[in-house]
Amino acid sequence: MAGSNGHYPPQQRYAHITGWGMAVPERVVTNKDLEQIVDTNDEWIQSRTGIAQRYIAVDPRETTATLGTRAAMAALEVADFPAAKVDLIICSTSSPEHTFPATASLIQDALGATRAGAFDLSAACSGFVYGISLASSMITAGQAENVLVIGAETLSRLVDWSDRNTCILFGDGAGAVLMQASSVPGGVLSSVLGSDGSGGDLLTVPAGGSRQPATLETVASGQHFIKMDGRAVFRFATRVMTEATREVLEKANLGADELDLVIPHQANIRIIKSSMRQFNLPEEKVFVNLQNYGNTSTASIPIALCEAIAEDRLKPNDNLVMVGFGAGLTWAATAIKWAVPDAREVPVWRAGQRSATYGLARMRSRFLRFSRRVEGSLVTDEGDAWGEVVSKRIESWRNVREE
Ligand code: ACO
Repeated sequence: MAGSNGHYPPQQRYAHITGWGMAVPERVVTNKDLEQIVDTNDEWIQSRTGIAQRYIAVDPRETTATLGTRAAMAALEVADFPAAKVDLIICSTSSPEHTFPATASLIQDALGATRAGAFDLSAACSGFVYGISLASSMITAGQAENVLVIGAETLSRLVDWSDRNTCILFGDGAGAVLMQASSVPGGVLSSVLGSDGSGGDLLTVPAGGSRQPATLETVASGQHFIKMDGRAVFRFATRVMTEATREVLEKANLGADELDLVIPHQANIRIIKSSMRQFNLPEEKVFVNLQNYGNTSTASIPIALCEAIAEDRLKPNDNLVMVGFGAGLTWAATAIKWAVPDAREVPVWRAGQRSATYGLARMRSRFLRFSRRVEGSLVTDEGDAWGEVVSKRIESWRNVREE
């Protein structure tokens, strides 16, 4: 039971996924399309990876933040929950809009989530599961009530389209979940997070950071593109996916036979099959959709979760494991007792209200940017009477909190 302040006491708090959503760019790129640009073929790609097509953000206006925002809006819609009540936004990404500001802050602004803290999480393809673990800890500790966890990527912008070893693998997209505090037992049962930085060079974008800032030379030598030792990553992935799944089940006190669904990171069908082999799970208990999306990095697990739900593959009280690996090297797994709250009656006018709220968020953002420019030109360091008036007006707008 929630207390008078609307919070659950710590011993009764559970972190549940209550909303989910995904977004992909419009343009589908098939293996046949790739045959036109690199020396590859559909048969090789399908037999070595399982991938048949991927979505690529060819429109420059489609970015990691726009995809993340669309996925987050869809998740809020499923939960019928207003952005203004979200208190934390975690965006996992390896293709952020900028070094800073965080992509999460741009999403926060686009959603009009005026009460939310926001930050990016960098753990490559494992990032979404890291985010789930973090959000769950914040919720069960009483530090947060409503957290958006987003995995969003436009890795196509970091791929060397002349390198057949990597360009055939990746796709763009985003997935998001809303996690909420509840007194209903279940939700996130356990998590496992791991890292082995000694393998950092196996999968890396060498330049563009503080170690190797951008120069004409780094650009000319392609150091801003993804470099990967595919075979080494393959060996690492099959080992850690098995170990992390076993560990997270143990922590949750579950046997493999109690598992109802595994959603593994969608990188390569051979990695999925080989890492899941020893759990003796029937095929229908391991969700695979990489044939349609390729490896969307940190977005792959939430996109797969959305599709699994749409296909009715998750039922109340099902035991779900999500497990991923990626650059870092990193790996992560989480075990979840699926317990989505009963569907609420959503009034017909809600869709209109939602789009009006997002429209207001856009106006608010534009006004704040404009007002900063005005403030900068009118308010002197010493301050003056007119400047004071302007500053106060602007401050009152900044404090607007949409319900
Ligand atoms: N088309 C045709 N031939 C190709 C292609 C291609 N696209 N790519 C490589 N080949 C060739 C190679 O040149 C090689 O030829 P050779 O024997 O004459 O040298 C041959 O195919 C076999 O190459 P391998 O690298 O041994 O192929 P492998 O079976 O290992 O598959 C792959 C390569 C798909 C990259 C695999 O190693 C893999 O999936 N590794 C894991 C990668 C991964 O998941 N990365 C993402 C991590 S998530 C993140 O954090 C972003």
